[in-house]
Amino acid sequence: MRTQVGIVGAGPAGLTLARLLELAGIESVVLEARSREYCEARIRAGVLEQGTTDLLREAGVGGRLEREGIVHHGISLQFDGERHRIPLSDLAGGRSIVIYGQTEVVKDLIEARLASGLPIHFETPVEAVDAARGIVRFEGGELECDVIAGCDGFHGVCRASLPAGSFREFEREYPYGWLGILADVAPSIDELVYAHHERGFALLSLRSPTRSRYYLQCRPDEELSEWPDDRIWEELHRRTAVDGGTLHDGPVLEKGVTGMRSYVCEPMRHGRLFLAGDAAHIVPPTGAKGLNLAIHDVRTLAEALVQRYESGAESLLDAYSDHCLRRVWRCEHFSWWMTTMLHLPPGGDAFDLRLQHSQLRYVTTSAAQASALAENYVGLAEV
Ligand code: FAD
Ligand code: PHB
Repeated sequence: MRTQVGIVGAGPAGLTLARLLELAGIESVVLEARSREYCEARIRAGVLEQGTTDLLREAGVGGRLEREGIVHHGISLQFDGERHRIPLSDLAGGRSIVIYGQTEVVKDLIEARLASGLPIHFETPVEAVDAARGIVRFEGGELECDVIAGCDGFHGVCRASLPAGSFREFEREYPYGWLGILADVAPSIDELVYAHHERGFALLSLRSPTRSRYYLQCRPDEELSEWPDDRIWEELHRRTAVDGGTLHDGPVLEKGVTGMRSYVCEPMRHGRLFLAGDAAHIVPPTGAKGLNLAIHDVRTLAEALVQRYESGAESLLDAYSDHCLRRVWRCEHFSWWMTTMLHLPPGGDAFDLRLQHSQLRYVTTSAAQASALAENYVGLAEV
């Protein structure tokens, strides 16, 4: 098999790249380890930056997003039992965020790929890639490519195929994780609430007018069996209680634990291999940046590939890694900052707590601090 661009992974990064290349008339083949059903059911992100929604619309896959996405103009930070609204749009030049699940983004992109009749192979795990020669190896075959897009997530094989010592890694693991639930109940909030609490952080989010998505800080290795639904609701009530606020319980449809880590691989390009999205970098979910960064990477890569196939010039491909890493590090910092401001580490004492309260008070009372949070949260236009 031969193609222009071999895409490893059908997550948001790989699927969006495939769509952008299709629109530019560049050939690609997508290889995905899991089944279509698995990819479409994997619950993860829910907050899309305006830049992300604009791109999906321009790529002709924004129809359902337009109808079902919920536009938000603010978020709240809660501490000391009170909520403080950050008016994102007022502080960030009118820009907003859209609540639309990653599951839905992935469904829309897969549907578009199949409707165009273009190659996407599910249940085809890639075993290794040869970055120098542009070869992708999978069970029973090889795909020869001009360029390989490594969009196979943090645990993928593209980065793992690179020779040791050919890249530098930067990493932090956090001593906590998130226990997330999807509940079949109307959200009890109009906008997202990030709640600081001495028992641990909690986040109130949503997926639709009838589905709530809530998270609790927990141990990174927390056993789900220790968290029957009643205990989850009780803890959510405790950590998010405010005067005049009520949290409605409902049937829990899904629950899971996610560890939290910051990670960057530099550079993001090796010969013919271009890493994009979680394959190259991970952020803790507190800033809601992971999916948005993945989309930014592939937009940059698609533009560089258009230049290469239209004019033969490779200046944008050569600039790919440096260009992406500027935004990656901005989001790494923002996500680390949000995370450490809101989560009390195990063993954290009154000193940590006082510092966090002081920081939260500053962010919610200083216009300059609130604006900095807002412009990073909705997504910086230029980095
Ligand atoms: P992935 O989604 O991981 O896709 C990689 C794909 O590659 C997968 O389909 C995988 O099966 C496939 N693959 C792996 N190995 C192989 C192989 N060997 N061969 C072929 N295919 C392979 N981000 C936000 O922006 N906003 C949020 O609100 C947000 N919330 C989050 C909440 C949680 C609980 C979690 C866990 C993450 C959240 N994120 C959020 C992060 C976001 O989900 C990720 O950054 C995003 O999925 C990255 O997309 P990707 O395409 O790079 O990687
Ligand atoms: C979500 O709705 O899943 C979500 C929202 C905000 C975050 C992380 C996850 O920061």
